[in-house]
Amino acid sequence: MNKIVRFLSIAAAMIIALAPAYARKVKKVAPKEHTTVEIPKVTKQVIAVETSSTQLILLVNANGTVQTCHYGRKIADPNEFLNYNSGLGSLYGDGAVTYPAQGGRFISEPALSVKYADGYRNTELYFAGVNRTSKDLVNTTEVLLKDYVTGLEVKLVYDAYLKEDVILSHSEITNAGKAPVTLIDYASSSMYVRGDKFLLTHTYGDWAAEMQIDREVLTHNIKVIETKRGTQATQWNNPSFMLSLNTDSFSETDGDVIAGSLAWSGNFRISFEKDVTHNLNVVAGINPFSSEYELAQNQTFITPDMIWTFSSEGAGQASRNIHAWARNFGVYGGAAIKPTLLNSWEGAYFSFNTETLLRMIDDAAAMGLEMFVLDDGWFAMDYPRDSDKQGLGDWEVNTKKIPEGIDYIASYAHSKGLKFGIWIEPEMANPKSNLAKTHPDWIVRSPGREIYQQRNQWLLDLSNPDVQDFVYGVFDNTMQLSKNIDYIKFDSNRPVYSYGSDYLGKDQSKFYVDYVQGLYNIMRRVREKYPDTIVQCCSSGGARVDYGSLKYFNEYWASDDTDAMERIKIQYGTSLFYPACTIASHVSAVPNHQTTNVTSLKFRFDVACSGRLGMELQPKNLTEEERAFADRCITSYKSWRDLVFAGDLYRISSPYESDYYALMYVSEDKSRAVVFTYCANYLNRAIGTKTFTLQGLDPSKKYKVTEQNVDKSIFSGNGKTLSGEYLMNGGFNIKLFKTMSSAVFYLEAQ
Ligand code: GLA
Repeated sequence: MNKIVRFLSIAAAMIIALAPAYARKVKKVAPKEHTTVEIPKVTKQVIAVETSSTQLILLVNANGTVQTCHYGRKIADPNEFLNYNSGLGSLYGDGAVTYPAQGGRFISEPALSVKYADGYRNTELYFAGVNRTSKDLVNTTEVLLKDYVTGLEVKLVYDAYLKEDVILSHSEITNAGKAPVTLIDYASSSMYVRGDKFLLTHTYGDWAAEMQIDREVLTHNIKVIETKRGTQATQWNNPSFMLSLNTDSFSETDGDVIAGSLAWSGNFRISFEKDVTHNLNVVAGINPFSSEYELAQNQTFITPDMIWTFSSEGAGQASRNIHAWARNFGVYGGAAIKPTLLNSWEGAYFSFNTETLLRMIDDAAAMGLEMFVLDDGWFAMDYPRDSDKQGLGDWEVNTKKIPEGIDYIASYAHSKGLKFGIWIEPEMANPKSNLAKTHPDWIVRSPGREIYQQRNQWLLDLSNPDVQDFVYGVFDNTMQLSKNIDYIKFDSNRPVYSYGSDYLGKDQSKFYVDYVQGLYNIMRRVREKYPDTIVQCCSSGGARVDYGSLKYFNEYWASDDTDAMERIKIQYGTSLFYPACTIASHVSAVPNHQTTNVTSLKFRFDVACSGRLGMELQPKNLTEEERAFADRCITSYKSWRDLVFAGDLYRISSPYESDYYALMYVSEDKSRAVVFTYCANYLNRAIGTKTFTLQGLDPSKKYKVTEQNVDKSIFSGNGKTLSGEYLMNGGFNIKLFKTMSSAVFYLEAQ
């Protein structure tokens, strides 16, 4: 004790002795006059952003602040919200702020945080105008906000898709001040949601296990879903979520649900902050992680779109809203039918020659498939791409493997009535490649530090326009290899580690954003020149699954895990946010190459048929019987695949909560439907039958039910005509109780 007292008194004596010296060093500055800039008063008003049955209400207060009052069911007279009292005390500043900026009395999670040239960090946004336009069935509302001290302007843009009940929202931040500013946080959108309880559904995962479901009731403080992977942004988490309101249970059919998805292919961050009033503020946008972005005078930063939907009929309707929007607006090529295909990867990997490919094409044609896709391994001469260890970056045809060239193979496919597709991975290079040796400055790297490899490869720096030209060139040159190329599989197989860009120099913190914008620049050019080519987005499976990429890509490879059992969970998770027309799903060999699991060919087909069907195996290893069965499944799929591509999805049973996964797609006029049922676990035969309650049918219509791809049905009503009412209320009971068994039914109104 005595020692402590002695120490403290010595320390105090030192402080007193040093204080005058310190004071002498500090320059005395005369205090500045403080004047407060006047904020113009405005008329209190309601801004309603409306779709057919939903409504987002923004309230402009007389002091110019803009608050979010409501996102939910539509109220006939939005002006009634003029009476709305947010109920938040002054302690919480102007809580429920529509686009909260760091500054003023707002001290929660901001959507915007700016560092000004003088080092000050406060921004206060006030209403400066509203502008409305309308085109077809999309109404656009632009709300202009302004900081009257620094001149910074923010335009909040809301595109309301009337028919789909979807609202897209992003911000446009303009530096209208006199000096450069640095954006620290620059979210796309923020949504204040009122309620007591919020059940958050989001995804997690990894390679070969993407889109696994996580659920939690949010507690106070902040929950964040985000990625810092840079590329392959969605391998671990997806920028999408559902919030079931005022409940702790997830329902497909009941209750209020808000769903969201950020259209961005890089680092994202979505935060959910439950405040002391129990309400929730959601802030969604580009992840501010290591991404300060300088804006020159008069420069505008346009943030990516956040896709919002509200459903008062549970999660099922929320998914259907987003799917409908995606098919009509959000996905390149929409719901147009894409061909069934045979992909060479799991059937041949890197070891093939012309003969191998021609025979695979013959077999694909014989089974009724419509396209052949030549995957990895066809390129590089000095460092032949015979494994993933070399050659990536050197995009000349390997004439040792294919002396006749790609046109020969593509033309052969066309002569057999098949389309032809080919694989590229243009943003990457193996260190063992001519590209890496001639262009070390194009590699993402940081001075003096090891350039880490993943799958033996390095990443090219897409923030550099020369690299963008190169990557575009890889696509373009590949397309020139044959006029018969109909499809490109565009892969990207590693994340960003230890980033650094020779091109960006001192602006390193722009890397993550400029990389993604570089990718979009490339894809814009691709689409200008090749509007009709089908382009698949692949990233070690489903590591680039987001609505930023789907603007340019027709579909994605959902996972490198082709085990049908695993796919059930992956495809269920993806179906929450992405429509079936985008999900490429292939039948592969058994034992499965990822899991070694063995499933029946029927089970594999039944799972793959619920998306865009393909096969990915060596057909010559199939028996005659198996080929005939494949032919049968492909033929039946073709007869109702329009429902998979464009129908409304109803999830009937979740593989996360039951032994069954069951789903169905229904045509818009409810005259046709296809039902998929899968049993994951063995259930004692004593269960007799399992009853599913079908959804989305017309109760008054009579449907003929036909089980597909079997000689003997497991449904006693097979071949009969049954009412929608019966099928939706307990009449659809089938004998499905074996591990990894399945059944598919086609329903047609008579
Ligand atoms: C990635 C893809 C696979 C395949 C290989 C080729 O892993 O996800 O489908 O194309 O690359 O190397």
